[in-house]
Amino acid sequence: ICNRGVPMAILVTGGAGYIGSHTVVELLAAGHEVVIVDNFSNSKPEVLNRIRQISGKDFAFYQVDVLDKDAMRQVFKENDIQAVIHFSGYKAVGESVAEPIKYYHNNVGGAIALVEVMNEFGVKHIVFSSSATVYGLNNPSPLTEDMPTHTANSPYGSTMVMKEQIFRDLAASDPDWSITILRYFNPIGAHASGRIGEDPQGIPNNLMPYITQVAVGKLPALSVFGDDYPTPDGTGVRDYIHVVDLSLGHLKALDRNLTVKGVETYNLGTGEGYSVLDLIKAFEEANGIKVNYKIVDRRPGDVATCYSDASRANQLLGWYAQRNLVDMCRDSWKWQKENPQGYDVISQA
Ligand code: UD1
Repeated sequence: ICNRGVPMAILVTGGAGYIGSHTVVELLAAGHEVVIVDNFSNSKPEVLNRIRQISGKDFAFYQVDVLDKDAMRQVFKENDIQAVIHFSGYKAVGESVAEPIKYYHNNVGGAIALVEVMNEFGVKHIVFSSSATVYGLNNPSPLTEDMPTHTANSPYGSTMVMKEQIFRDLAASDPDWSITILRYFNPIGAHASGRIGEDPQGIPNNLMPYITQVAVGKLPALSVFGDDYPTPDGTGVRDYIHVVDLSLGHLKALDRNLTVKGVETYNLGTGEGYSVLDLIKAFEEANGIKVNYKIVDRRPGDVATCYSDASRANQLLGWYAQRNLVDMCRDSWKWQKENPQGYDVISQA
């Protein structure tokens, strides 16, 4: 089934989310037609206006849950989909411990429903969001793609391990599939325009949105989770990557996915590790603003050090992260400062 006359489009599930919205901007800039599917479970409709403003381009949008196969079939009927970039899913580690079935149902079930519909329509190109969380607690950094991944330490992490396995099994069963697994390290930052960025619901779980909400006065102080790790300053070390660099990695991965069959896995990170205190200091220096913080106990499940070996993506995708920690801190702050309530209030900026 194919809609002749309609240009081929990239379907982006979760295209209203943090990483999805930034990737849609880059897809449109590169000249792709885009179809977004999002159910706004953790995103806001206003982001769609912002994407149009930044890009000066339009796209198709469907408020659809990926688990709703009939609604998804309609999307595939009405558009000529060339490939899918699959971002949608729940991503809060703590919530996944409290509500594991919700995570397995939505994240694993969503991926299965999606590939079933893709199969029906003969669309066999997918780029899928995984996470460095699949490396678990026992692999030493720098992390390479061939390390074992059966040790995820949360239900959220397990859904990623399972989805990766499902996609590998699918590729092995049908050589016509092109599947790209992208393992993200720690995306932060925002589009340089300050018009789109990360908009967490409630109190942020992740470090950078917590820092920006302290800086803007919404939260009193950052809790630094432990200063007794075996790292240079005792705080946790992560591979922070600018969300625009991450998005550009998807475009490179998509180009290769459209020409290479089988399954491939890539780390998307900078290859550099920075501690919590490094990030606070960089944020303060980049923006000339103080961040109140206090040292508290370790957060259960956190690993001391996690950074990538990104050489496979460098070599095979021709992709390198270009933006440094100062860029990340400046852009995160611009977004927060100009949108103190996220997408809830239409800012005048
Ligand atoms: C977390 C998830 C990971 C998920 C990713 C994206 C865990 C164990 N891992 O990564 O699976 O893919 O988010 O959602 O939750 N920190 C503080 N104070 C804070 C928040 C964080 O000190 O208020 C520290 C953490 O201990 C860590 C670093 O900052 O050392 C980064 O934390 P975070 O931004 O939550 O990311 P990860 O834990 O690396």
